Amino acid sequence: MADRCGRGTDAVRATRAVVDLEAVRHNIRGIRQRVGDRRQLMAVVKADGYGHGALPVSRAALDSGAGCLAVAIPEEGQELRTAGIECPILVFGLIQPNEASKTIMAGLEQTVCSVELLDALDQESKSRGVTTSVHIKVDTGMGRIGLAPADVVEFARRAASCPNIVLKGVYSHFSCADERDKEFSRAQIRRFGEVLGALEAAGIAVPVRHMANSAGVLDLPEAHFDMVRPGIMIYGLYPSAEVSHSVELRPAMSFVTRICQVKVVPPGTPIGYGATFVTDRKSRVATIPVGYADGYRRLLSNKGQVVVRGKRVPLLGRVAMDMCMIDVSSIPEARAGDEVVLFGAGLPVEEVASIIGTINYEVVTGIGKRVPRVYV
Ligand SMILES: Cc1ncc(COP(=O)(O)O)c(C=O)c1O
Repeated sequence: MADRCGRGTDAVRATRAVVDLEAVRHNIRGIRQRVGDRRQLMAVVKADGYGHGALPVSRAALDSGAGCLAVAIPEEGQELRTAGIECPILVFGLIQPNEASKTIMAGLEQTVCSVELLDALDQESKSRGVTTSVHIKVDTGMGRIGLAPADVVEFARRAASCPNIVLKGVYSHFSCADERDKEFSRAQIRRFGEVLGALEAAGIAVPVRHMANSAGVLDLPEAHFDMVRPGIMIYGLYPSAEVSHSVELRPAMSFVTRICQVKVVPPGTPIGYGATFVTDRKSRVATIPVGYADGYRRLLSNKGQVVVRGKRVPLLGRVAMDMCMIDVSSIPEARAGDEVVLFGAGLPVEEVASIIGTINYEVVTGIGKRVPRVYV
């Protein structure tokens, strides 16, 4: 454990992602309050907990109100199991039938929407003497994975008749819930409601019906059903600038480094690969040990900003694989060892995302593997 800036971890690399697990707990408690005690809360920890570290985030989420987890691929679930996580874990992604044993051996729940996968899970479960819980995915408008609404009842009947399969859930996913205009999302909810009605009319019991991602949690209470599946908001980020702030969130991650060299250069000094920046005055140029291999995107070249000693300063020249330069001329006291905020306090990740034309999700999940996550 370290303090809020990740100090107290002497051997840790200067470039690090500092993750505040208390912020994760705060966000989970906020979600819990928003959706009420009656509903289950599935914390989405795929992609290594959106880059924050799946295991510490899972533990923090589970001890502050989440009851289960979701991952994208079985390997992510296996890692959590190996680390001792025992709660239900749903695999969102589809796997090939010949991968069924991965889900089963780790005791995960699997998303299904094909007879081939359903049968493979049933057979493999039988041969191992276990049962496997599945959630049927319905495509109500995302156009990604899932059954057409009209095909769900027949498929659910088949799932219910497989001796080693437990039909635990039916779910769908929003494509536009983070937009201000909710018309498309309401149509998706309507379609999902019709599917649930048809299942009920056919006498097929579905214990857990779920639809809401973060945007759904924030803005579409009618989509909370039996369980919600927030991802990005666990990490303290809003899914877009268009959603309401009906839950007050605290960003959990800051991405920081330290200056490794400062030099004073005359006007006309080229900086970095391609000499795309040339100083037009005497300048104090600091080098920081972070680059695109760390997830500090090259698209930020000559555009990004960072915070040093509480002050915004610009990036100079191209971001290289492992280093880049910043202009600290406005901070005469800046020196090697000073902390540099790449995003975090004073520089929201959304600003970095918007400079490079992407979303906060991609920036946090893109932080490289060699960047240590330091938990406070
Ligand atoms: C099926 C499903 N549910 C929930 C989520 C969580 O979404 P968000 O991070 O927007 O809350 C995702 C993430 O992409 C998802 O794929």
